[in-house]
Amino acid sequence: MESQWGDGGSVDLDDTRLETLDPRPLLTRDYETRPALVYERLRQQHGPVAPVDLLGVPAWLVLGYRESLQVLQDDDGWPKGLENWRARTEGRVPADWPLGPSLEVNHILIQGGPGYRPLRTAWDVALKPFQDPRHPQAKRLKAAVTAYADELITLVGQGGRTGVADLSAQFSRPLPLMVASHLLGFPGSQGDDALMDMWRVLDAGPDAEAALERLLATLAELAALKLQKPGDDFPSYLLAAYPDLSLDHLARELFMLLGMTSDHVGILISNTVVEVISGEGSVRASLSAGMVRESMNRVVMRKPPLVNFVPRFAARDTPLGNYTIRAGDPVWVSPGAAHADPLFADHVASGTTISTRAHLSWGAGPRQCPARELASTVAAAGVGRLFERFEHLDLALPADQLPWRSSPFMRGLRSLPVRYELAATPAGPPVGGLAPEAAGEVLPDPSARQRSSLWRYLTGLIRGGR
Ligand code: HEM
Repeated sequence: MESQWGDGGSVDLDDTRLETLDPRPLLTRDYETRPALVYERLRQQHGPVAPVDLLGVPAWLVLGYRESLQVLQDDDGWPKGLENWRARTEGRVPADWPLGPSLEVNHILIQGGPGYRPLRTAWDVALKPFQDPRHPQAKRLKAAVTAYADELITLVGQGGRTGVADLSAQFSRPLPLMVASHLLGFPGSQGDDALMDMWRVLDAGPDAEAALERLLATLAELAALKLQKPGDDFPSYLLAAYPDLSLDHLARELFMLLGMTSDHVGILISNTVVEVISGEGSVRASLSAGMVRESMNRVVMRKPPLVNFVPRFAARDTPLGNYTIRAGDPVWVSPGAAHADPLFADHVASGTTISTRAHLSWGAGPRQCPARELASTVAAAGVGRLFERFEHLDLALPADQLPWRSSPFMRGLRSLPVRYELAATPAGPPVGGLAPEAAGEVLPDPSARQRSSLWRYLTGLIRGGR
């Protein structure tokens, strides 16, 4: 046993080394189907911090709520940045490690070091117009979400006023993609086509690598366009806030925005829809009282879209849980597990509409999600519109049999089969929303939309009463 002086005086360090522990794989079939069980087993065996194997690479998984906060709130003690990863520097991370491509695209979520702070400040500035409810840009965004939601719902309705649909493929997934296209300031509906490549990347199928290349090239073109001709959009705002950003770097930041928007917001929308449909009567009642947001806060806490965060690295040998984490060891904070920690879970009263705000689903500390308001607004406006336009929505499968998809980072529904009945009279503008003419300004020319490959894909999904 060694000894080291920390802030609180002398602390004992054990002799454990991550590389000699030979941990068990995390990403098993159980992780896919019953993640809570996997976390519980690890907690029982190792306590709040457990060694795991992530597709052939050892890492520490933080399962404890207190320990998660300890890591997230101390960016100096647990910085991000792959350059801090000892095993990688020593050549012990295989070149073909499956998680390599997503972690090696260096953007704000992954980045550490001195470049991070100015970049985060620029992100905060660039997001502000979309997040400040009094700003015209935020109003336009809300109107756009409602207008896109209307387009998608009308398309579902082409299968008949009653029928069956997959609300994941036909609503929760395309809606944030259309929003991302709006945020990025793509001309017309051109963005929808290019951005469909994001799905190929996220689905990690055989065409994922080619799709990633195409997507980065498209985003680099867009970045160059915005440099020449700035508009009222996120890339232009980011460039204005950070004029030294190279085009290549800007493209990577846009890629990050696209990934977060299209995947995580989509997951949040689907989970909220399930909560509203299958929750107790009070949930639907509270919805009509304009409480979509509260419902969503509960959902995001119970089912965090990001179940594990990208790695941070111990700046020095540090005790955490029952182990000593060696300088340069990777540490993955797991809100999926931390929310099941009795320390946290026992404080969350089940079945109440009052939910705790102490959850980690948006992160914690200095690197907390800067787009929480934006993501919540998009999801709430989309879900709100869905329940205005559909008179009845029922799950076509019992809630506990809905299919889930998991990656090392996220967990969301693979599909969301429903039986629906559209309201007889089309809904007017949403309560507190903009007039339809204002929403019309944000929609691309309908004939261009119909020609887009996103639209052709969505039209192919219409099932109606079949
Ligand atoms: C439901 C949707 C979303 C959820 C649940 C979510 C959650 C999170 C979480 C947990 C983190 C912290 C990760 C960590 O500590 O390692 C994070 C960071 C971040 N998120 Fe979000 N996010 C969402 C949507 C978005 C959207 C739509 C954007 C962009 C428009 C965005 C931009 C970012 C950025 C830039 C960071 C990195 C912040 C930093 O490192 O300083 N997020 N998000």
